[in-house]
Amino acid sequence: MRLIPLSAKADVGKWAAKHIARRINEFKPTANKPFVLGLPTGSTPMATYKKLIEMNRDGEVSFEHVVTFNMDEYVGIPADHPESYRTFMFKNFFEHIDIRHENINLLNGNPEDLEAECQRYEDKIKSYGGIHLFMGGVGHDGHIAFNEPGSSLSSRTRIKTLTDKTRQANSRFFENDINQVPKLSLTIGVGTLMDAREVMILVTGADKAYALHAAVEGSVNHLWTISAMQMHPKAMIVCDEDATMEL
Ligand code: GLP
Repeated sequence: MRLIPLSAKADVGKWAAKHIARRINEFKPTANKPFVLGLPTGSTPMATYKKLIEMNRDGEVSFEHVVTFNMDEYVGIPADHPESYRTFMFKNFFEHIDIRHENINLLNGNPEDLEAECQRYEDKIKSYGGIHLFMGGVGHDGHIAFNEPGSSLSSRTRIKTLTDKTRQANSRFFENDINQVPKLSLTIGVGTLMDAREVMILVTGADKAYALHAAVEGSVNHLWTISAMQMHPKAMIVCDEDATMEL
């Protein structure tokens, strides 16, 4: 696993955007051979999305032949809820780039059958031959996507109960009221992430320093699911100086 420490949070966003653009451009995607990109939500990737939107506008990268898969979604809030991950992605990224809407894949948090929805997602990823590059963030407790502490490191897309810690952290988007934060989510598994050809995790801020320590210097274990990246043949963590405080 490569660790790429940069000075500031803004540098992480720019570096990550340039890396994604470089991978798409060197792949030279076409309609029959799209580039398959995995994407996260959260505050950490916002700067990356902003930079990618600029690069797309300036003709430095096109998403015309890029297929995306998002990592996770809340269960039980409407798709058009202001805090659904679908809303987040359209508002902060998809509405501003030249991606074809049929190429956007998101988990449906309100399906008739939750398990069938997870299987559909795994099958759809497989139908494209897997994911070329998955970008992710990390929670304070080391979770990737919504793979909370204790998740199997070989897990696939499934229903996951959110921990109180995660609901507390995410309550900032729900009027600081934990009771409004959904209790369930659908998330890709650690195994789904491990199958991606390349994984790039972004970690910024001193509040993520212990998670970064667990990811880099801890043992591989299911309590810090980010640590599974140590086993990935092509994983990297891009972080700012603040996040390195515990290394
Ligand atoms: C949520 C998301 C994760 C994200 C994490 C950290 O739990 N499911 O994918 O990495 O939040 O978010 P932030 O970047 O806002 O700290």
